[in-house]
Amino acid sequence: MASEALTLDRVDAHYGDSHVLHGVSFALGEARLLGLLGRNGAGKTTCMNVIMGILRPRGGAITLFGRDISALATEDIAARGIALVPQGRRIFRSLSVHENLLVAARRPRAEGNHPPWGFETVYAAFPRLKERQRHVAAYLSGGEQQMLAIGRALMANPRVLLMDEPSEGLAPQIVAEVMATIRRLKAQGLSIVLVEQNPKLVFEIADDIVVLNSGRVVVSDTTAALRESGVDLHQHLGIY
Ligand SMILES: Nc1ncnc2c1ncn2[C@@H]1O[C@H](COP(=O)(O)OP(=O)(O)O)[C@@H](O)[C@H]1O
Ligand SMILES: [Mg+2]
Repeated sequence: MASEALTLDRVDAHYGDSHVLHGVSFALGEARLLGLLGRNGAGKTTCMNVIMGILRPRGGAITLFGRDISALATEDIAARGIALVPQGRRIFRSLSVHENLLVAARRPRAEGNHPPWGFETVYAAFPRLKERQRHVAAYLSGGEQQMLAIGRALMANPRVLLMDEPSEGLAPQIVAEVMATIRRLKAQGLSIVLVEQNPKLVFEIADDIVVLNSGRVVVSDTTAALRESGVDLHQHLGIY
């Protein structure tokens, strides 16, 4: 379907002999936000890795705007308009804020539906980064490092943004700021997968929710439908 930005169709993934993803399927609609929930070890980061071509799936298909990307190299996948904000931020700690953004810059594609991202727009979105543009990234606070990781992904002018636990290790007030940023990005037309362990955060922000448990999808529905049915996601997460 043309309105789907990203789909996984029965994806299987392994690390060596260890079978980690078992027939994982889900679809991210254009300009929608999908919350991917699961406790530690459920396979969330592995999903990000197979989407980005960091780990080759052994079965199934992955499409980006209707085109199969499952056999492409990471660089070619990124060039088609998808960017990852990795778990643990992974910024270049010894480079300045500005240099971190510079290395990620990529010319916008014609089909981009928001004003293209560059230094000016990223600094306008994250004034703290502008103030600290000459600072070495290692000396930023956790929240600022997360903003830098998001800003860096935006510099590639993606149409689909994958965010792997951006709230991890941040104080509640900073988490609220990060979530407000994610809301703004969605309002600008980005299609977003937000990986989270906290169901409450996902219920507040996502249009659609997918829950992984031991590498399998155990819940996949709209947030509205899940809210209506009063489902207890903690149970599906395997928390009790
Ligand atoms: N590089 C790796 N080599 C072997 N096993 C891995 C590797 N990365 C993750 N795993 C295993 O794969 C499973 C899923 O991990 P992961 O996708 O990181 O989960 P999550 O992001 O949901 O916490 C876990 O059992 C984890 O131990
Ligand atoms: Mg993870």
